[in-house]
Amino acid sequence: MNNQTDIINHINQVFLKDIMEVLKKLPDKSIDMVYGDPDYNVGIKYGNKSYTKTFDKYIEWYIELAKESLRVLKDTGNMFLINYPKQNAYLRVKYLDKVCYEVSDYVWVYNTNVGHSPKRFTTAHRSILHCRKTKNNNFYKDNVAVPYQNPTDKRILGNIANGSKGRMPYGWFYFNLVKNVSKEKTFHSCQIPQKLSEMLIKSCTIEGDIVLILFGGSGSEIEVCKILKRQYISAEIDEKYHKMIMDRLNKGKIEERYKLWLKNYDTKNISTQLTLLEEQNVYLVNKDKVKVNL
Ligand SMILES: C[S@@+](CC[C@H](N)C(=O)[O-])C[C@H]1O[C@@H](n2cnc3c(N)ncnc32)[C@H](O)[C@@H]1O
Repeated sequence: MNNQTDIINHINQVFLKDIMEVLKKLPDKSIDMVYGDPDYNVGIKYGNKSYTKTFDKYIEWYIELAKESLRVLKDTGNMFLINYPKQNAYLRVKYLDKVCYEVSDYVWVYNTNVGHSPKRFTTAHRSILHCRKTKNNNFYKDNVAVPYQNPTDKRILGNIANGSKGRMPYGWFYFNLVKNVSKEKTFHSCQIPQKLSEMLIKSCTIEGDIVLILFGGSGSEIEVCKILKRQYISAEIDEKYHKMIMDRLNKGKIEERYKLWLKNYDTKNISTQLTLLEEQNVYLVNKDKVKVNL
């Protein structure tokens, strides 16, 4: 098989596989954008699996993932990796800074009512590493520009007259966590808000470009690609999530049985409850009746 056939065989597919297997089959420099929201190695369970490793082993795996991802990325491409700041700091210093043209560390900030501790400030952010392989990365400011704060300023008026659609967003992004009552919420325990992935995808791709979504999860980023007419390649290792992704893409919506309604639940310990739900294979819950005794 040549490179062209290899890539065609992967386009617009979500593999029920380990992403490392999928990456190994992709040709060099074939992908326009890599987007990764991996498991953060903090003991969160996906389905009945927790991928917890020692920190050193996790960083070894994360470096291998980044290495393969950069191999398949075009020279004009961009890679975004979302994680806790510590994990991303290690990846950056131990590997990315040595091989990338430039690495930027952005933050996603959100409000939260969990994780408070009396002896430190509450973590309410994630790190997003943006890796440029070369100085020639594609970046489409007009796709993501935000309104100027001083649109009557002389210099800004000049920019507008020259066709500017607004200013470049700052490297901190405020987006609410996906709420349990949100339209996009599923029984998956960790979802990235679609507005955030949409902004990242639009910033560096145009219609027809190929986006590699390393971890399928609930399918939220893959759905964004589909809506934005980007081509996608993705993998999800857990069968239940994979099935939800495929149904979500085929039906163009999240079926009721994949939704999460926590109205009757104790909203504390949500991740424990989600794990219980998943372990008992109970996805079918609705607003008024909760079909499981916790
Ligand atoms: C943090 S979640 C991604 C959630 C996603 N961003 C969303 O908004 O729905 C990580 C996902 O990766 C899956 N996963 C973990 N290790 C994997 C691997 N080696 N290959 C493919 N998928 C994996 C987990 O089952 C989980 O669904």
